[in-house]
Amino acid sequence: MSSSLLQVHDLSKHYRQRGINVHVLDRLSFALEGGTWTTILGPSGCGKTTLLKILVGLERADSGTVLVDGAQVPQLGSIAYLPQHDTLLPWRDALGNAILASEIDGRSLKEAKREAIELFEHFGLGGFEFVYPHQLSGGMRQRLALIRTFLAHRPILLLDEPLGALDPLTRATLQTWLLEVWSELRKTVLLVTHDAEEALLLSDRVLVLSERPASLQRDQAVELPRPRDRGSADLVARKTALLDLLLVSGGA
Ligand SMILES: Nc1ncnc2c1ncn2[C@@H]1O[C@H](COP(=O)(O)OP(=O)(O)OP(=O)(O)O)[C@@H](O)[C@H]1O
Ligand SMILES: [Mg+2]
Repeated sequence: MSSSLLQVHDLSKHYRQRGINVHVLDRLSFALEGGTWTTILGPSGCGKTTLLKILVGLERADSGTVLVDGAQVPQLGSIAYLPQHDTLLPWRDALGNAILASEIDGRSLKEAKREAIELFEHFGLGGFEFVYPHQLSGGMRQRLALIRTFLAHRPILLLDEPLGALDPLTRATLQTWLLEVWSELRKTVLLVTHDAEEALLLSDRVLVLSERPASLQRDQAVELPRPRDRGSADLVARKTALLDLLLVSGGA
């Protein structure tokens, strides 16, 4: 029996769309070790979001298993999920959004607020605790959504393109922040991105998926020390190789 924190074995999934069968995942298997950062790269529409939804229990696979610490999911309390599209609650202020999971779980609100205020500082949102989501920029909203995910106190974080809609400068800043927070909290992260450079800058391992139906095309370890230099020859060469592979798979 492997000691992996998350084990995905032989996952397959079809959707029915207007009477037509759409094959989305094809016998996907991988395992994540505790405290590591893994990134999934794959062509648009290949099934990345579907995979995360199955892992968190929002969708059911047709076949295959997902085990967290050896037990079948959905495991309430094990996985925090940051969906691809903004899900901040417009009627709660920023702090109220950040501590949502603690409130639902019945943890101490005083402690949750203290932790949140620390992370607001860390993510450059200090002073914005009492504003509402519509009063924040796109980058700030994403930071708030990330804070909320970290504060869910789950060992596994599933992040679906959290930096996807941001300009390159904000994106680079947030990559640095994310890495700092992760280094401190050492969660097990599964990130979905279209950006090969982002995958190589952040992860211990990159999983490349094929075009739909998604199967695992490559499982590549990234053994470079952090923080990494996006301009280094090694990183650029790895990026080119990943992009070539993605182009063959159907484009990122
Ligand atoms: N609820 C659903 N019902 C029917 N088909 C769906 C449903 N959700 C997703 N699909 C289909 O499954 C396929 C994979 O969708 P998914 O959102 O998982 O892709 P993705 O890899 O996350 O794409 P992107 O990179 O654009 O976010 C698509 O063909 C999509 O149309
Ligand atoms: Mg998606």
